Amino acid sequence: MLEKLVIKGGNRLMGEVSISGAKNAAVAIIPAVILCDEPCTIENIPNISDVSLIGRILQEMGAVVKRVNKSTLYIDPTKIYTSTAVSESVRGMRASYYLLGALLGRFHKAYVALPGGCNFGTRPIDQHLKGFAALGADHRLVERAIIDAQSPNRLMGAHIYLDVVSVGATINLMLAAVKAEGTTIIENAAKEPHIVDLANFLNTMGANIRGAGTDVIKIRGVDHLHGTTYSIIPDQIEAGTYMVAAAATRGRVIIKNITPKHLDSISAKLREMGVEIDEYDEALIVDATKKPLCRCNIKTMPHPGFPTDCQPQFAALLTTVNGTSIVNENVWDNRYQYVSELIRMGAHISVEGRLAIIEGGTELVAAPVKATDLRAGAAMIIAALCANGTTEISNIGYIERGYEEVVDKFRALGADIKKVYYSEDTSIRA
Ligand code: EPU
Repeated sequence: MLEKLVIKGGNRLMGEVSISGAKNAAVAIIPAVILCDEPCTIENIPNISDVSLIGRILQEMGAVVKRVNKSTLYIDPTKIYTSTAVSESVRGMRASYYLLGALLGRFHKAYVALPGGCNFGTRPIDQHLKGFAALGADHRLVERAIIDAQSPNRLMGAHIYLDVVSVGATINLMLAAVKAEGTTIIENAAKEPHIVDLANFLNTMGANIRGAGTDVIKIRGVDHLHGTTYSIIPDQIEAGTYMVAAAATRGRVIIKNITPKHLDSISAKLREMGVEIDEYDEALIVDATKKPLCRCNIKTMPHPGFPTDCQPQFAALLTTVNGTSIVNENVWDNRYQYVSELIRMGAHISVEGRLAIIEGGTELVAAPVKATDLRAGAAMIIAALCANGTTEISNIGYIERGYEEVVDKFRALGADIKKVYYSEDTSIRA
């Protein structure tokens, strides 16, 4: 059976929502356990399909992975017997490339299928491979779809300068270097909150990593990593998505279990539009009920700039305000596939290279649309919540990769949303 989201627009979001653990931290921290010499317990794990997939991949390699409760995983990596990971599960997720760094760190070799995952153009990993080579691990491409990387000896610390600020390369090189001999310095490193979270996790296991969260990370290699219990950070992008949804529906929502500092760039843009935001220690209130919102421009940048992973959701919001807003996608070459779906709903958007020009303020109308990737799917939900009529969103597997209990969370805020199952013959049943 296939699945769709069916959303009747027009309700303001009101109430409170609790944010889950960060997907992009979880998909790095779970493979990082491969490097540990003892079992680990990871808390605040989001219950999403990408996490199930990376857990299954570790099991396929010999790890014991048990869900202690909804948000806690116990992982015993001691029985991992292979540095090969080429199963369908590996091919099914983007972040499986973290197996390269983790397996190189543990076995000095890795034979890993190239990842699938979200669908927005070429996603090169040349910076990861360049860094591995600097640490002493050469690679070859097998049958265009598998990376075979190995070092004859233990990896050696090195000075690595990244040509582009890459989250994935920074994480992968931290994983490969944490048990390397000597000191590794990563320059022009990415600074995302989940990079700091991975460094904190590795340090609680006995690693020696300094500077995560700045653009120079210094890693002194250690021989052993011991077991730990660690709670991962809240999901910055899930929080941002609910903030933007609250603004788009002109609602008032309390966003709980967050780190407000991680949301500064999103809060700043919403405030610029006239949304009131009150911050507390681990929560914030988004209030768009008080005054009309105005247009704004956004430009995506590596952290602490405005996150590309909130760009589609923000574009959906900008269709609801009067005036011309310009979105400048500065991280990915091709992250506008969702625009044609918004146009089907009546949005006026034109794309010119990296720019999307949004003529906002026209009414959105319900239409059958699809999620073209994870955050595009979130943008469809936001547009559907604002649209006149009942929108059906297909391809929701993308959304479930990264949003825990998305239907329940939106419904608790007052959205008229349900998931329906249907077969190819298009007859729908709830
Ligand atoms: N790039 C290269 N060479 C490389 C690596 C990256 O040229 O070796 C380029 C990319 O083409 C892109 C830019 O550098 O233009 C940034 O890519 P980055 O490596 O930072 O992205 P990523 O690690 O593959 C992670 C997130 C993405 C998020 C980006 C940017 C994970 C699992 N994924 O991807 O998240 O968009 O960072 O912040 O952490 C999402 O959650 O929806 C998602 C796609």
